[in-house]
Amino acid sequence: MAPPTQVLVCDSTACRSSGGEQLFKVLRGEIKDLGLDVRVVKTGCYGFCGLGPVAVVHPGAVLYCHVDEDGAGEIARTHLRGGRLVQRLLYRSMNGEGRRNFLHEIPFFEKQQRVVLENSGLIDPEDINEYIARDGYFALAEALRSRAGPAGVVDAVLRSGLRGRGGAGFPTGRKWSFAAAQESPEKYIICNADEGDPGAFMDRSILEGNPHAVLEGMLIAGYAVGAREGYVYVRAEYPLAVKRLEIAIRQAQKLGLLGKNILGSGFNFDVDIALGAGAFVCGEETALLRSAMGFRGEPRVRPPYPVEKGLYDKPTIINNVETLANVPVIIRCGPEWYAALGTGGSKGTKIFSLAGQIRNTGLIEVPMGISLADIVYDIGGGPPPGRRIKAVQTGGPSGGAVPAELLDVPVDYESLQAVGTIMGSGGLIVLDDTDCMVDLAKFYMQFAAHESCGACTPCRVGVVHVVDILERITRGEGTMDDLHELGELADDVREASLCGLGQTAANPVLSTMKYFWDEYLAHVKERRCAAGVCKALSH
Ligand SMILES: Cc1cc2nc3c(=O)[nH]c(=O)nc-3n(C[C@H](O)[C@H](O)[C@H](O)COP(=O)(O)O)c2cc1C
Ligand code: SF4
Repeated sequence: MAPPTQVLVCDSTACRSSGGEQLFKVLRGEIKDLGLDVRVVKTGCYGFCGLGPVAVVHPGAVLYCHVDEDGAGEIARTHLRGGRLVQRLLYRSMNGEGRRNFLHEIPFFEKQQRVVLENSGLIDPEDINEYIARDGYFALAEALRSRAGPAGVVDAVLRSGLRGRGGAGFPTGRKWSFAAAQESPEKYIICNADEGDPGAFMDRSILEGNPHAVLEGMLIAGYAVGAREGYVYVRAEYPLAVKRLEIAIRQAQKLGLLGKNILGSGFNFDVDIALGAGAFVCGEETALLRSAMGFRGEPRVRPPYPVEKGLYDKPTIINNVETLANVPVIIRCGPEWYAALGTGGSKGTKIFSLAGQIRNTGLIEVPMGISLADIVYDIGGGPPPGRRIKAVQTGGPSGGAVPAELLDVPVDYESLQAVGTIMGSGGLIVLDDTDCMVDLAKFYMQFAAHESCGACTPCRVGVVHVVDILERITRGEGTMDDLHELGELADDVREASLCGLGQTAANPVLSTMKYFWDEYLAHVKERRCAAGVCKALSH
């Protein structure tokens, strides 16, 4: 029997914003009018966010890009009824490599490895049965029936080498073993879905494309450490992710995959949603805890760490969305399989959002250890025509700029740190000769100043002072004394601040001063901004 014809329409926030919902409606209407036996499915993101709205026709995996209302009608009539491809909507490489008809032919995917995003773009995120049909909740079942019990699960996560994807890269298995060792009848699992980094949307895409993978990760974590309750702390600005989570929780409860005596194992676990307050600092774990308990989201000194004293002073695991979405894969495919992906110290894959001066913007998942150059040129397609890449900002506001000459650096926790930046949560912003590095540093410092909770002086006052200096420099009023003070102040803020926000706020300044000192000098000594961004200096 021939496989059924299906059209998968990306229904993520990015494709919605370029008309995805309309595409879905028109396509479904046309298919009905034509009396075709074709299923139209709303899915999560493929990663091609710059080409939206996107639809893929199966069998054949034919990719259509920028599908407007007329295009939806053409797909129905020409392709689905007539059996001919709609040429004008097929993918065309901006590198001049010509047209590509099928998803697997597109260079964008060649160096990617979709492990966490395996099902995103393939299944309907609002239908639990589609997740189950792709082996969803099998890892949970395996964990529950394993003779090794909860300790065996912790051991598997330890052996996989999984490290937290929320920024700091702390080994997940170690965090879980600390939590498991706590003597407490009440423990909590919190999924950190705050994602406040400007330009980052990895966690949103996971939740929108496959919310059950995150719930399954939380369930396995709960079983492993002896917790019965979990919360997803998700920013209120992510309404689609929240809606899909709510649906996923309801469906899992209905099937007995959440609640009491899960799969007849005697294990009880339920999940609720806590809406975030929309401040970057609320992603910091101790601030998140306060915010989740209904207080102002202000960080506190650690220790005690949340694994000892977390939500309502009970042992609490806080893990990032992507970290938790890795867990079912680890249990299903085995820690050895997982540990063979990536590098010695950084296992698995990492999801990045690619933005800035690059041809293919969007969402990618790559094995750890791939070089930044491979990401930027082979996956991202390089800079727009006639431009030259200057640097890549990794790690968002807490990270730094890697200059073009160092782009061969492997993407892993240690190597990125060695060149003065961090992996962070996965925002990658590509900068070219039309970007000013002093202005970039100013942008991130202004962000930090705006987002500082103000509880400690070095951050509250110091960051504002750094912004003042950068503003002077970009206005053409900076002096050599300013440059000297900038470096010292940035160091002081890093050392004296209470939480990660202040401790990392000056990283973009320090890294741009290290690699782009000549741009700072040109602004101060020659009153010149070569990129033409700082208006007062552009003559
Ligand atoms: C200012 C600030 C913001 C943060 N925002 C997030 C966030 O949005 N999501 C996240 O998972 N971790 C964020 N973190 C890191 C968390 O504090 C914590 O380390 C992480 O959730 C732990 O999960 P992981 O071990 O799975 O990475 C932030 C940290 C700081 C200092
Ligand atoms: S470092 Fe900044 S954000 Fe963190 S506690 Fe201090 S003032 Fe608040």
